[in-house]
Amino acid sequence: MVKIKNICCIGAGYVGGPTMAVLALKCPDIRVVVVDANAARIDAWNQDDLTQLPVYEPGLAEVVAEARGRNLFFSKDVDQGIREADMVFISVNTPTKTYGEGKGMAADLKWVELCARQIAAVATTSKIVVEKSTLPVRTAQAIKDILHNSQSKISFQVLSNPEFLAEGTAIQDLLRPDRVLIGGDQSPEGKVAIQALASIYAAWVPEEKILTTNLWSSELSKLTANAFLAQRVSSINSISELCEATGADVDDVAKAIGMDSRIGSKFLKASVGFGGSCFKKDILNLVYICRSYQLHEVADYWEQVIRINDHQTERFAKQIIKSLYNTVNGKKIAFLGWAFKKDTNDTRESAAIYVADYLLDECAHVVVYDPKVPKEKIYADLDFLGTRSSEENRKLVEVVDSAYAACADAAAVAILTEWDEFVVLDWNQIYSTMKQPATLFDGRNILNGEQLEKIGFRFQGIGKAAL
Ligand code: NAD
Ligand code: UGA
Repeated sequence: MVKIKNICCIGAGYVGGPTMAVLALKCPDIRVVVVDANAARIDAWNQDDLTQLPVYEPGLAEVVAEARGRNLFFSKDVDQGIREADMVFISVNTPTKTYGEGKGMAADLKWVELCARQIAAVATTSKIVVEKSTLPVRTAQAIKDILHNSQSKISFQVLSNPEFLAEGTAIQDLLRPDRVLIGGDQSPEGKVAIQALASIYAAWVPEEKILTTNLWSSELSKLTANAFLAQRVSSINSISELCEATGADVDDVAKAIGMDSRIGSKFLKASVGFGGSCFKKDILNLVYICRSYQLHEVADYWEQVIRINDHQTERFAKQIIKSLYNTVNGKKIAFLGWAFKKDTNDTRESAAIYVADYLLDECAHVVVYDPKVPKEKIYADLDFLGTRSSEENRKLVEVVDSAYAACADAAAVAILTEWDEFVVLDWNQIYSTMKQPATLFDGRNILNGEQLEKIGFRFQGIGKAAL
């Protein structure tokens, strides 16, 4: 059996960093080097102050503290990292293409291809190359082509090992995964490579949870898992609109259906809409792949998951405007939360960005508080949309450092992220500092509407009786 002693991971982001930190923690005999083209990111991973790591995840700082400098290293020298490794993980970003063929739908594989080319160019010994990034089904074929057509006569095996961690719970997900999926060639050499990776995970993952398949099943399973998860959120969100129209309560409905063991209770929380870097991108990618195989009915089916999500976010923004007498012009609207979910500093595709953009178009004055997202990130997210100049965004949007400051003098408060600290705010105090009538829009259904109405708020939850 091949015993792996040196691992290199290309990409020190939300996946590469935490994944490799846990691997290094659990396998002290393996030297793990995480490399990245972004030097500032590597510096941030190496700094002494563990509260300032580039990724915020509960429990991550503790894992890094134990493994960093022992067998976990963060380095800017990508070539050296690759050269010294027996196994190279590719964990780079695969965003939706913003240009050319497949624009707005297909995954941009530019960075993955660059990695493959770099591995081919600098490797001097055989390597197992592992796709950790989420990739369209059959990408491994392209990686193999690039590696096998390099000048050297080195042998490469390509594996698919998609990551299923969710942000905010990444460390627990990595320590106790529901399953680890490894896809590889079904040739004798491919099976040896699969076993080499499986034996690394076996250090902390029960054997029955390590699944092995061919490459294409593994690649497609990752896209399918995200599509199914997002579909559940869109399904319950679609029902939330019907609840508002009929007087049913979406949390009651979710509980009632979730107790059916065939349906299950997880991922049925109605919200202002799912965000995050992956659900939308991966479903768009799935839709694009289906269309490329002329499977238009299948593509239409999955595309609807995104359409409902966009509708839910827009509907939330429209509800705010309607409830404030059809105009928010010059009105202060407090946003509690900007991250796409609690316990992360990640804001990619956060519903908050789109709700803010909608309200800013109506000349609202948006004041944001998020416990983990820095001010510049919030402005960068709005600037990235290109809806208005960055000067206008800075004029219309204020970022403050407490929920109380955000809500003072506001006409309305909108909960955009379900941070625990919002549940225990002194809502009596907040009410007394707001413009009257004070309206509260709970985009995460974390607050008790009845109690807030007793204080005097006009309260609107998702999928609750409409104002
Ligand atoms: P990220 O943007 O946080 O990190 C990617 C890193 O790769 C960046 O720091 C970038 O500088 C680096 N990089 C890109 N090209 C490089 C190159 N050629 N050489 C060296 N460094 C390079 O992305 P992420 O959130 O970690 O996601 C990575 C992949 O994992 C994506 O395919 C994503 O779909 C998938 N994924 C993400 C999550 C998640 O929760 N974020 C979960 C599961 C899977
Ligand atoms: C998701 C998947 O859960 C991971 O398994 C996957 O690895 C990852 O995508 C990925 O490929 O990037 P993540 O996006 O980090 O993880 O977080 P989720 O917990 O899935 O939440 C996604 C979005 O859906 C968030 O905005 C969340 O608030 C929303 N959501 C989730 C709901 O609105 N309701 C729910 O019931 C669950």
